[in-house]
Amino acid sequence: MAGRIPQNFIDDLLARVDIIDIVDSYVPLRKAGRNHQALCPFHEEKTPSFTVNQAKQFYHCFGCGASGTAITFVMEYLHLGFIEAVEELASRAGLTVPREDGFVAKDSDNTTELYELMELVVRFYCKQLREHSQASAAVAYLKQRGITGEIAAQFEIGYAPPGWDNVIRALGGSDAALQRLARIGMLLKKDSGGYYDRFRERIMFPIRDQRGRVTGFGGRVLDDTKPKYLNSPETPIFHKGEELYGLYQARHTHKNSEQLYIVEGYMDVLALVQSGIHNAVATLGTAATQQHLEKLFRVTGQIVFCFDGDTAGEKAAWRALETALPLLRDGRQVHFIFLPEGHDPDTYVREKGRDAFEDKQAIVPLSDYLLNNLTSRTTLTTREGRATLIERSLPYLKQLHPGTLRKLLVNDLAALAQYDAGDIESAFQQNDKKTRPAVRRTRKQSRPESDSPIQLVIKYLVHHPELALLLSSAEPLALVDIKGVDFLLQLIELIRDKPQITTATIMETWRGTRYEKRLNEIAGSEDILAEIDDPESQFLDAMNKLAKRGDGPLNLLKKNPSPNDLTDSEKLALRNLHIGGKQSQNKN
Ligand code: UTP
Ligand code: MN
Repeated sequence: MAGRIPQNFIDDLLARVDIIDIVDSYVPLRKAGRNHQALCPFHEEKTPSFTVNQAKQFYHCFGCGASGTAITFVMEYLHLGFIEAVEELASRAGLTVPREDGFVAKDSDNTTELYELMELVVRFYCKQLREHSQASAAVAYLKQRGITGEIAAQFEIGYAPPGWDNVIRALGGSDAALQRLARIGMLLKKDSGGYYDRFRERIMFPIRDQRGRVTGFGGRVLDDTKPKYLNSPETPIFHKGEELYGLYQARHTHKNSEQLYIVEGYMDVLALVQSGIHNAVATLGTAATQQHLEKLFRVTGQIVFCFDGDTAGEKAAWRALETALPLLRDGRQVHFIFLPEGHDPDTYVREKGRDAFEDKQAIVPLSDYLLNNLTSRTTLTTREGRATLIERSLPYLKQLHPGTLRKLLVNDLAALAQYDAGDIESAFQQNDKKTRPAVRRTRKQSRPESDSPIQLVIKYLVHHPELALLLSSAEPLALVDIKGVDFLLQLIELIRDKPQITTATIMETWRGTRYEKRLNEIAGSEDILAEIDDPESQFLDAMNKLAKRGDGPLNLLKKNPSPNDLTDSEKLALRNLHIGGKQSQNKN
């Protein structure tokens, strides 16, 4: 069993990676003042309130309150446990994660167990498709849908036989096993106690994530019973809104795809693969999310949406356009295929063949789709109509990153509306200003002023660790009999030990300990990225108040905390503090 990861490795790792690079590789960041911003990946929003600070190596969303370090981000964004997230970051930094002996990493081992169990379930269903006495109906159904044995094997298609306890009898030998099966969504709880199989009499499609782990299933009935498809519920390892069916297989047969098709259904993916188109993936009955698209843009520069040729498909296409707009930038393109009424990719490719499906003429670039849609709803022959066109277009165009594509669209729009392109551009700038979140100020005002001196001292030190340089000795603090002093002493010691420490490293030092939550409350949560006005005097002020609580006079501060007493590097650190609240962190 792997042991605990040593803290000094975590420190090194955080010093080695830059949260800006990490976040930006998943969610494109834009510099905004001394922070970087993006649309928050953890909640739906139209204007960016997700904020990352390089000096502190910390992020915070002023919209939903999500916050943390590079490690937290990877954990939350990729739904990984702490150890997996550290491994992910380490592999990016080219480091191997060392382990201490004697500790068992509980959480992460648990998910490993869940994934292993999932593999057993996959094997079980595949075996049933080959061997179960009633499997012939399933095999016949797949044949009739044109799925060959080869594709069935490649995609590990299986069969959940009729009955309430097939999985239970095969894999639920103990209470612990039953509980694990329930945790991965394979079992449901009976009202009367005990469990029963969730998937019964269905063709089973295992869903593998990008790393090849089975996270969940889709199961199709063999007839017209409802629901046609049943998907795994949300579990610790399955998140429907993020997975893409077929992505793992597409990546394996088709490394570095030029483009990837997104279709709606399991059967669409299989039909395309069957006809030689290996670069197709499907969402699992949900609209395509930004997370889906970001995932795909990491492996391809070009996404082609292909929805069913019906009204639902049309709606889905427009929604996909809206989702994709803010993600476009140089090197990322989105296109659409509109199938004839009544077709889905499955029926279309089977009827018309691969060449028809891949016909370049039939592919509509997102920008065409956008402009066509906007112009088709307005009259261009009147000034009123052309003004409406511009009005309607602005909300879409302003979502695009300022770049070549936006410029080109603006020019075309200007030509269509006989309007000045520069005037359209300046409308964006107004928009940009209007949409800056004003949250910070309101948060600050609503913050209770009743933080105790010790809480304030801790907070300032976490925000600006270099403030600890103002203290000559922390020892007298030990005499102060106030709750939290123990912690404060540890914090000061840590900073003195590593004068270059960042906010992120401080926060990671106490992850998983009893101090974690409290530390987050005091320092981390809502305003870690908000600026503190004149942190130095505020810190000294809080420190003085704290000292008064002690029995005797405390000699905490450098005798004369004037700049003359400080070394050059201390001066520099403190000067930076005055300029921008930034700490220097040239540690590499
Ligand atoms: P479709 O009905 O378009 O799927 O639903 P399909 O693959 O074309 O189905 P058949 O087998 O050819 O009839 C698209 C997707 O929506 C989800 C599934 O992920 C499906 O692949 N869905 C659909 C459900 O989750 N539940 C349902 O009852 C129906
Ligand atoms: Mn279909």
